[in-house]
Amino acid sequence: MMQVRALAGDHDRQGFDCGRQELNDWLWQVARQHQDKGLSKTFVALSAKAGEEAPTRICGYYALTLAELENRHLPEAWRKKLPRRIPGVRLGRLAVDRQYQGKGLGELLLVDALTRAQRIYAEAGGIGLFVDALDEQAAGYYRNFGFEAAPDNPLLLFLSARVAESGKGPAGRKAGKGPGSN
Ligand SMILES: CC(C)(COP(=O)(O)OP(=O)(O)OC[C@H]1O[C@@H](n2cnc3c(N)ncnc32)[C@H](O)[C@@H]1OP(=O)(O)O)[C@@H](O)C(=O)NCCC(=O)NCCS
Repeated sequence: MMQVRALAGDHDRQGFDCGRQELNDWLWQVARQHQDKGLSKTFVALSAKAGEEAPTRICGYYALTLAELENRHLPEAWRKKLPRRIPGVRLGRLAVDRQYQGKGLGELLLVDALTRAQRIYAEAGGIGLFVDALDEQAAGYYRNFGFEAAPDNPLLLFLSARVAESGKGPAGRKAGKGPGSN
């Protein structure tokens, strides 16, 4: 069983390895500090063995921050009639441990991130989710889920809150599918 929880001190950060050193280092060294300072919030997928009440094994993670972006970074269709600076939510990082890759956990985390982002839009506004992809392969992963690249930067991607709400984004893509079903 997979559980998604806010990162806590007793979670085993050092045991995590997604194969990308910068994403490992961030979880090992930066995530807690940023969380304590209120700069970002990290959520982890924990694998619970049968009967285990408080699992500590981190299988995947992502981080969320509030973001303000210039509207020139938005895909044309979303840019109209907006002021120059626009509020949104930034998906700082998304990574899955090597042992769990390709089993739908990335998708589960993405849907979890969208659910939390939607709560933020509802309470404080925000036009969508931004993500800085590490490279073209990662950008392809996000495009697969309906994210659109900025006109001036293929590694900056955007998922409109309206698309996510309409069910055409990741949450509606494969409802019910997740790591538990694999
Ligand atoms: C990228 C990553 C987060 C994906 O997580 P994952 O759990 O392995 O991916 P999932 O199993 O949820 O994949 C979901 C779907 O995306 C597809 N997919 C995976 N990688 C893809 C890519 N680079 N481009 C396009 N589609 C991709 C899968 O084929 C799958 O589609 P399907 O269900 O139709 O077969 C993970 O592999 C990882 O941590 N990689 C190393 C770190 C990294 O590059 N992170 C990118 C953050 S910038």
